This record gives sequence, structure tokens and C-alpha cells, in this order.
Amino acid sequence: MAHQPVAQTATANRAAPADLYADLHQALGGLLAGEPDFIANCANFSALVYATLPDLNWAGVYILRGAELVLGPFQGRPACVRIAMGRGVCGAAAARRASVLVEDVHAFPDHIVCDPVSRSELVVPLIKDNALVGVFDMDSPSPRRFTAADQAGIEAAAALLMGASRI
Ligand code: SME
Repeated sequence: MAHQPVAQTATANRAAPADLYADLHQALGGLLAGEPDFIANCANFSALVYATLPDLNWAGVYILRGAELVLGPFQGRPACVRIAMGRGVCGAAAARRASVLVEDVHAFPDHIVCDPVSRSELVVPLIKDNALVGVFDMDSPSPRRFTAADQAGIEAAAALLMGASRI
């Protein structure tokens, strides 16, 4: 009979979210210190999030250009380049200027499929001096991957990013 691997719980080898985000915010502070370039900071922000948080298949920025969002620095597979304001999860977060947490993208009718592997998504707006600059998007292959703790942790990280960056 074939050997059966020991089942692992979904949270195995994961730090508790509070510790994870405390570490992420500390590392981010170091990466952003003294660096005002928004694109460079978005690149390191995306790379840090992608390397730190488990169970992601994409993490990156869309930058507001006129009436649409245009792909910026990211980690993961190539993605859709342009998203109209109000369209998809990213456009909804941009139009509302509020985070959008989608537990199951199959249940979000206007979800834009960049990678069919994605099953849940969290998008946080990037705001500087009261103006929308873009959004930060994270995708996971697992349904219900993102929680209120993730939303709070990424919103706080986004505030660090926008505080350090000159637009
Ligand atoms: N799913 C997003 C599009 C961007 S990708 O996931 C990278 C959306 O619905 O806006």
C-alpha cells in the first residue's frame, strides 16, 4: 500500500498574523528609509510582501493613469496591463478608495481573470495627500486566504509606502 503523507493543517509553518505583519512592517521601514522614489518603493514593497506572506500567487501595484489603472511593479506571472476605473476588484477598490476583500473570486461577477489559478484577492488603495495614486493587489490560489487581519496589515504597510514616497 502506498505511503500516505501526514496531512498538514492550513496554518502549519505560518507565523501568527500579528507577528508576521509586525515583521513585515519593520522590514518595510528599512527598505523605504530615505528613499522617495515611488516606483522603486513599489518594487521592493511587492517583492517583500510576496516573499513574506504565504500562499500568494501574485502581489503588485496598479498605478492610476488618467481614468485607468496601469500595471506597475509586481511579483508573479505576467498580468493584465490596463484596468478601467470601476472594473474588476482593482477598479472597484480604486473607485471606492477603500479596500476590497474577495473571499472567492468566482462569486465576484466582475472579477478580471489574469491567472485562472487565483481564487481569492485583496486590493488596497494607495492614497497620498488625499489623492488616489493606485492600488496594491494580492492574489491567492486558496479561497478565503485573506482575513481582516491581512487587510489591516496591508493597509498599514501601504500607509508606510505612501508616507515614504514622493509622487
Ligand atoms: N483580478 C484583478 C485583476 C488584476 S490581477 O489579479 C493581477 C481584478 O479583478 O481587478
